[in-house]
Amino acid sequence: MPKFLLVTDLDHTLVGDDFALDQLNQWVIEQRQTNGATLVYSTGRSPTLYRELQAEAGLIDPDILIASVGTEIYHGGQKSPDSGWLEKLSVGWDRAAVFAVTAHFSDLVLQPETEQCAFKISFFLTKEAAVDVLPELESLLEQRGLDVQLIYSSGKDLDILPRSANKGAAMTFIREQLGFAAAETIVCGDSGNDIALFAAGEECGIIVGNAQPELLRWHRNHPSTQRYLAKAHCAAGILEGLKYFGFR
Ligand code: GLC
Ligand code: MG
Repeated sequence: MPKFLLVTDLDHTLVGDDFALDQLNQWVIEQRQTNGATLVYSTGRSPTLYRELQAEAGLIDPDILIASVGTEIYHGGQKSPDSGWLEKLSVGWDRAAVFAVTAHFSDLVLQPETEQCAFKISFFLTKEAAVDVLPELESLLEQRGLDVQLIYSSGKDLDILPRSANKGAAMTFIREQLGFAAAETIVCGDSGNDIALFAAGEECGIIVGNAQPELLRWHRNHPSTQRYLAKAHCAAGILEGLKYFGFR
């Protein structure tokens, strides 16, 4: 079997079907030992909430953790994030100014303190309110000269990030650092914050069968032969996609 870099989202992608997760864990452990496969988790969660999930769900240790929607990269269980990546994100990012603009929108409900990070501001926002709030917020930020990106996931989570940061950009940074080709890289996800993983380039994309409407809509509007929509849900969908691409 060829070597590969497996980059996967956690909530409702890797996590959600305990039996399939166990099967996938065993396979990844074997592949890591025999052919230098590399496992990367890419989550919207902060390191604090990631550790909670890791304990709850029985996740094996990854080689690299991409946390906080691509704004932090942790190598091999290290406590502090990749400083080269943080430096890239800091260019043109004015957190306080972005935060001040959000105060004009009463529908934005701040997420818990653990989820507010140096390069990520996160709110809860209902689907109904999002229809008006997202375009208005975007244009106000633009008017103030703040070049950021808004990422809306699962009909409830809004993340505001520097333009240069998202799960896809962080994945590409790691892929190049480790020297994997796009064709040796598999990316897996289920929701809006994973779109950047699938949009990055020629990586093998696996969308799990239980994906959210915003990702399915994007998938339909951006067809690619390098992307597979699985029938099975969560880790079983990843196993199905790995077969499709010939990795197992
Ligand atoms: C995770 C994070 C949250 C974020 C969401 C979507 O749930 O904890 O802050 O908004 O992912 O990216
Ligand atoms: Mg998810």
